[in-house]
Amino acid sequence: MNISIVGTGYVGLVTGTCFAELGVNVTCVDIDPLKINRLIYGALPLYEPNLGTMMNRNVEEGRLHFETDFAQGFSDVDYVFCTIDTEPDEDGSTNLAPIMNIAKTFGQRIFHYCTFVLKSTVPVGTATKVRQVIEDEIAQRGVDVDFDVVSNPDFLTEGNAIKDFMKPDRIVIGVETERGREAMQRLYRTILLHSNRYVIYTDTRTAEMIKYAATSMLATRVSFMNEIANLCEIVGADINVVRQGVGTDSRIGPKYIYPGCGYGGTLFPQDIKDLIKIGDSNNFDMQVLKAVDQVNVRQKRILFNKLKAHFGDSLKDKTIAMWGLSFKPETDDMREAPSIVTLDLLTEAGCDIRVYDPVAMNATKLRWGQVYCGIDMYDAVRGADALLLLTEWRQFRIPAWDRVKELMRNPLIIDGRNIYDAAELEAQGFTYHCIGR
Ligand SMILES: NC(=O)c1ccc[n+]([C@@H]2O[C@H](COP(=O)([O-])OP(=O)(O)OC[C@H]3O[C@@H](n4cnc5c(N)ncnc54)[C@H](O)[C@@H]3O)[C@@H](O)[C@H]2O)c1
Repeated sequence: MNISIVGTGYVGLVTGTCFAELGVNVTCVDIDPLKINRLIYGALPLYEPNLGTMMNRNVEEGRLHFETDFAQGFSDVDYVFCTIDTEPDEDGSTNLAPIMNIAKTFGQRIFHYCTFVLKSTVPVGTATKVRQVIEDEIAQRGVDVDFDVVSNPDFLTEGNAIKDFMKPDRIVIGVETERGREAMQRLYRTILLHSNRYVIYTDTRTAEMIKYAATSMLATRVSFMNEIANLCEIVGADINVVRQGVGTDSRIGPKYIYPGCGYGGTLFPQDIKDLIKIGDSNNFDMQVLKAVDQVNVRQKRILFNKLKAHFGDSLKDKTIAMWGLSFKPETDDMREAPSIVTLDLLTEAGCDIRVYDPVAMNATKLRWGQVYCGIDMYDAVRGADALLLLTEWRQFRIPAWDRVKELMRNPLIIDGRNIYDAAELEAQGFTYHCIGR
């Protein structure tokens, strides 16, 4: 079985590597020659636990290849996975031109039955458009080749991506023909061998909608709890206990109800915006999602606002330390992270900024040249007037507080993920603020 994966980012690289691990012959194609070159030499362009080792093993064993040449990448394949990122157009709608170009190339290159699998998150109806483009190309060539277009949205979470691929909660397959369904069954059979995992077969439009609805539901839970947390602060309630009281209700469950300084990454913010846009273009006002987005925009400023509330209006020349830059632990992805908003606000306010993140500091050096990147988490707090915690990396969970206190100029901790114990910190002489208490 031969698979080509177009787009070698998070989703593409994880999907390609995992299929190779299952014995499939995989070629990953990307338009970024630098990325492909680095991959050929074994350098992972992103941080994802265990991915590098698995990738290099599969390269060595001859099942995983990297290409910039689509002609090579598409030769003699049974499946083409489209896993590229999509950019919004000027009007905010998703620019589908790159996906349609890949569909065209597919239509020009296939010589026998092949399945085109859309894994990128795309507006409802995209699979239908892709099918039309491929049909047109094949008709132009005057050949008779069969194909199917399948919507197979991705639900991976960065930092847990290999497990999410190998042991998914469910696999959603939107497909319009029995032949396409059988092709996907063949492909995923190995993953489903030893479990009762759900495979949801449906039409392509419903599959496309499932992806948006699932992401939006999670983002809604987060924004909802952040709003409740902010109200807890005002009325004197404790969000940590409220969260337990809410999450132990079996109808609700404990996941995605942790208050914090806002969600980030590409998924939540982008999918919410896309779905609002899909609503708008169908004259349907997505009121809940607009509020979810607005609450999140506000929440990303919360650490800065707490800092201002503590020091009064002027933060000029204050030294502020930050632990964590990535939008969540176990990834170097800073896209749409609360740290970006915080870094911008602190810079604007004239602060000296010192940061530490185990893997996400390179992007910071490029965009905020004046920011000091610590050698380790303790180096980052040297001389600081406040320490902000933005990402709950494991190594930040039980710091040597006596060392932190000794290094800081002023012992103020603002915990954007509610991971510390207020009583413990206050007993050690810190002033401690968190979210929703
Ligand atoms: N990252 C996630 O956690 C996640 C989870 C589920 C779904 N998704 C969705 O999957 C898609 C990909 O996300 P990602 O995070 O992997 O993106 P990414 O930015 O990490 O990777 C995208 C890759 O596609 C390449 N690319 C762009 N245009 C191309 C083209 N025309 N031809 C070949 N390569 C091209 C880029 O160079 C890049 O390497 C998006 O639609 C995203 O919404 C992402």
